Amino acid sequence: MKHFSKKDIDVLPSRKRAHLINSSTGYKSANLIGTKSKKGISNLAIFSSVTHLSSNPPLLGFILRPLAVTRNTYDNIKANKLFTVNHVNQHIIKAAHQTSAKYDIGISEFYETGLSEEYLDDFPIPYAKESAIKLGCKFVNEYFIHENECLLMIGAIEHIYLDDSIQSEDGWLNLEQAETVSISGLDSYSLPKVLDRLSYAEPEKKVDSIL
Ligand SMILES: Cc1cc2nc3c(=O)[nH]c(=O)nc-3n(C[C@H](O)[C@H](O)[C@H](O)COP(=O)(O)O)c2cc1C
Repeated sequence: MKHFSKKDIDVLPSRKRAHLINSSTGYKSANLIGTKSKKGISNLAIFSSVTHLSSNPPLLGFILRPLAVTRNTYDNIKANKLFTVNHVNQHIIKAAHQTSAKYDIGISEFYETGLSEEYLDDFPIPYAKESAIKLGCKFVNEYFIHENECLLMIGAIEHIYLDDSIQSEDGWLNLEQAETVSISGLDSYSLPKVLDRLSYAEPEKKVDSIL
């Protein structure tokens, strides 16, 4: 079996190290974060670090890279305290990936990538119309991570939009049906397949299929 020690990792060329470390922890979620600047310019950027934090209260978090350069998503969230989270599906991976390009604050990634802005109810921040699952979030807090100078951004989920057909009776969302992709590393997109759903695990009981 191939082995990388800390010493081997430290001397890898930076891109190779980034690919290795970034894919070594497994598949990540694929989301587009929608925001709006003070001047009303919409912004859309791909993030692979959006993760569930808790259901009650309904919270999510995502990791923001160091603020050494301008981060439009961060500035916009701080400006109006709202953002949207939009699942990337298999039909929009190229446009979604393109949003990671360093566009100026005055340029909307919606316009540049052809993804469509969608405004739902009275939420003033755009969702991505092409996305099958969309969340409207309120910024709650940010935590500075001293070890790498990243920020953990916390949002409260205040709106969820999805097609009725992808939700089962017990609330679970079938992400395979939504064609939601996952990310490995920084440039690879996969389409996961549901293998089964399993009953609540208890010490003296074998788990059963509940699909
Ligand atoms: C697949 C992929 C995943 C990414 N995930 C993150 C992430 O989790 N956090 C982050 O800060 N940047 C991430 N980025 C980089 C941002 O998309 C990129 O910096 C973008 O330009 C940010 O746009 P903004 O300046 O409009 O906020 C990712 C890029 C790619 C290609």
